[in-house]
Amino acid sequence: MTHPSPVICVDGPSGAGKGTLSQHLAKAFGWHLLDSGALYRVVGFACRCQAIALEDSDAVADIARTLDVTFRPADAGVRVWVAGEDVTSGIRTEEGGRDASTVAALPAVRKALLLRQQELARPPGLVADGRDMGTVVFPDAPLKIFLTASDQARAERRFHQLQGMGESVSLARLLTDIQERDARDQSRTVSPLVPAEDAIVIDSTMLSAGEVLQAVCELAVSRELLSDASELRLDPADASGQ
Ligand code: C5P
Repeated sequence: MTHPSPVICVDGPSGAGKGTLSQHLAKAFGWHLLDSGALYRVVGFACRCQAIALEDSDAVADIARTLDVTFRPADAGVRVWVAGEDVTSGIRTEEGGRDASTVAALPAVRKALLLRQQELARPPGLVADGRDMGTVVFPDAPLKIFLTASDQARAERRFHQLQGMGESVSLARLLTDIQERDARDQSRTVSPLVPAEDAIVIDSTMLSAGEVLQAVCELAVSRELLSDASELRLDPADASGQ
């Protein structure tokens, strides 16, 4: 293996399938997982709980710097704990996504979270899911994926995901939310959502989750991120997932 502590970056817009791909990749490789969106969501959530205005850059950055947040691996990805409380379901709402995207536009907040994210790159490797993993947080990563899909496909996936979590939502509203969040993420001055120059762009509109996973595993093996492809622990259920 050429990299002692390699990172695979998975960036892209909301609902493109980054979370599913990253979880399956981390499992298949036996690597750590960084869900950077959860960090921004937790910051937004903590601000709401403490009645801090999301636009108050100094106060929000203070939360980002000092927040006692832990990620614990679980069957479906990671569970997020803040100061000893499991906040996973509280941060995974649509409102949580909007708040995250508001605080994520503040340069002081991004700066406060940068080192916290970089410290998670540890052996045997890290799968980093986000918007600026390949452009800002891990610019030297040996494999960068930019996963995208049509607006409609992303809204439909999110619709089914939220329904599964018991949240009642309208598809039309989700589509508008996704488009607004994309516009905010793409137009902000710091770390806007853009593919890194050396990213491989994958459009998942017509692909199953299993097909995307298979393609990325092949890329990782061809870049020698594993010394032996037989180290891959591909679960047939993940590899055929929709
Ligand atoms: O990925 P997720 O939907 O959880 O991200 C929530 C929001 O957090 C995104 O819409 C984006 O504004 C912000 N974010 C970011 N940079 C990251 C990850 C997420 O700006 N690396």
